[in-house]
Amino acid sequence: MPVSFIEAVKNDDGARQATSLFSETFGEYCRMRLQDNGGVWASPGRVNIIGEHTDYNEGLCLPIALPHRTFVALHPRRDTKVRVVSSVNPMSIEQADLDHLHAGDVKGWAAYAIGVAWALRKAGYLKVRGFDAAFVSCVPLGSGLSSSAAMTCSIALALSDAFDLGLSDSDVGRVQLIHAAIMAENEMAGASTGGLDQNASLRCVEGNALLLDCKKDLTPLQSVSQQPFDLAANNLELLVVDTCAPHQLNDGQYAARRMMCQEAAQALNVSSLRAVADSISNSEDSQQTLQDTLNRVQKLGGETMMRRVRHVVTEINRVREFVEAFHKTDITLAGELMNQSHNSLRDDYEVTVPELDTAVDVARNEGAYGARMTGGGFGGSIIALVDTNRAKPIAQAIADEFAKRGFAAPRALSAVPSSSGERIL
Ligand code: GLA
Repeated sequence: MPVSFIEAVKNDDGARQATSLFSETFGEYCRMRLQDNGGVWASPGRVNIIGEHTDYNEGLCLPIALPHRTFVALHPRRDTKVRVVSSVNPMSIEQADLDHLHAGDVKGWAAYAIGVAWALRKAGYLKVRGFDAAFVSCVPLGSGLSSSAAMTCSIALALSDAFDLGLSDSDVGRVQLIHAAIMAENEMAGASTGGLDQNASLRCVEGNALLLDCKKDLTPLQSVSQQPFDLAANNLELLVVDTCAPHQLNDGQYAARRMMCQEAAQALNVSSLRAVADSISNSEDSQQTLQDTLNRVQKLGGETMMRRVRHVVTEINRVREFVEAFHKTDITLAGELMNQSHNSLRDDYEVTVPELDTAVDVARNEGAYGARMTGGGFGGSIIALVDTNRAKPIAQAIADEFAKRGFAAPRALSAVPSSSGERIL
């Protein structure tokens, strides 16, 4: 079976689809008013190039925004009622009243959409009132490509503009929107998330990867730097393959990893594993310091904790090395670091599944410079850094191997570093 590539929907098409869903759902009257107080906003999914499970350890990561976006047509109301609809199930309108809403009250997909309004009000943005909103998306759902952040960030931008919060036009303002998007996921939807996805969706710049430093207490300016990531100039493509293995972050595995990292930091008497990573890389003999630290963790918390810590501290360092390698156009080294990252996620952090490992193995055998899972793991997608024109044959080889092994058919897309969310109508 030929493997299918998911194309990104262009802004004008996305705006058209979102506004027609809006008017079909909420009526002609609302469609008219879209032009006054409402509009259409879009925010992207992401792939993380390297730096996985580091964000909640105050570490480093390196995402790019995908050209694939979630579009929301939104129109503010005078009361505090909310109605939301999605093209996934256009017959079902989810409703809530912001005045009587508590953490966990909204269930299913609407928790992400409505949760952002709830979180903004909790943060003191009481200008946020009720609204009607219609979502359409071309970010594949549940693929580890941050479809949830694309949704929360698109509506965060919409609420900021529709209620004149003034947060969408500056990086400092966007950081406030990111906090609300994270709070919606954590507290309304009950899904753990560390901030990587939302930062990517609202802070990436076209043509660049976002070097994100998740250390606490950094100013917005200190926390990001744009890293030119020109694939075409290097005759490269970034292939994304969605393995279509089921992917869930709220089933306890992600939270368990997070908890163990916290316990390890406590046992080592530091605020986060970032501090451990920094003291290793700043020491004179970093290999020896790494080994000594891991021996200590093993004594304090056992073998599993030691392996979790080994992943996090080596991964933080790999982000630094990858940035340097790509900057020097040492693509072989950059690819090798991606491979190391995947192996560490497979062997030490234990968040891969057979579909991810198989896809990565095939991509490497077919000549990728490097291949790794991207996102939280436990299903989802892989990325592979490949020569121009190799993306399709490699995706096909993965699909053929999946068919042989009886896995579900995978889907592919080509990732180019795209821009963050914005108002488009
Ligand atoms: C998910 C989370 C992110 C991050 C990644 C792993 O995507 O939402 O915050 O922790 O997993 O890097």
